[in-house]
Amino acid sequence: MKKWLSLLMMSMLVVGMLAACGTSDDSANGSAGEGGKTEGEKVLTMGTSADYPPFEYIDTAKSEDIIGFDVDLAKAIAKELGYEVKVQDIDFNGLIPAIQAGKVDFVLAGMTPTEERKKNVDFSDIYYTAKHMIVTPKDSGIKTVEDLKGKTVGVQVGSIQEGKAEELKKTVDFKVENRNRIPELVQEMKSGRFDAAIIEDTVAKGFFEKEKELTGFNISDASADEAGSAIAFPKESKLTKDFNRVLNEMKENGELEKLIVKWFGGEQ
Ligand code: ARG
Repeated sequence: MKKWLSLLMMSMLVVGMLAACGTSDDSANGSAGEGGKTEGEKVLTMGTSADYPPFEYIDTAKSEDIIGFDVDLAKAIAKELGYEVKVQDIDFNGLIPAIQAGKVDFVLAGMTPTEERKKNVDFSDIYYTAKHMIVTPKDSGIKTVEDLKGKTVGVQVGSIQEGKAEELKKTVDFKVENRNRIPELVQEMKSGRFDAAIIEDTVAKGFFEKEKELTGFNISDASADEAGSAIAFPKESKLTKDFNRVLNEMKENGELEKLIVKWFGGEQ
């Protein structure tokens, strides 16, 4: 009788131990990620609009992956903070809504921290600045903003370049058309539907390498025209402070400069 009893107690002990193991495993997984992944590494989802070389794009000849300056920067910062990054491609105009809907943890998309956007999302410090460029086919005869009179000018939906076009339109009378993706703007110029487009200079220069019939000039007024890029987060996200800290460390220790040289080339 006693034997049976101790056997019973033994087996209860074993079952108990197994159960305990199970729970501890579960809780380890449960705490594993804000991004919803459970493989030990914490995963953050980055939203971007992968139409913007060298910031973010897909080099279809090489792979399906989204690569670029923003992707490298996100991964470098996240790694320092113990996160892995998963990249999601969304039209530029849908990025802020995606943050607000909780679909992405942050956005790196060469996005400029405007007052309007700050009402809906928080931003890191600026990590890169560029300028607006008027891009045209070489034979367009457009050499100044004034030459845009009567022309059709393309911009990306929801970009600050769209705002810039509306502003310029107040003094020079031209028609503004918008498209979701930058390559669409390039295509419309090549097919003659657009006479020009407003695109950030670093991005435009990248396109010139392949699109030999295109050229461009910077809109030359004050530095206020600079299109700075910053990382966007949901309002009150705890990530903003951490990302900013690492970003500023990278500015100081030269890591950011290294990425700039890698993706934008030497002369800045
Ligand atoms: N800097 C501009 C803006 O914030 C354009 C950014 C477009 N980015 C992109 N990935 N297409 O409006």
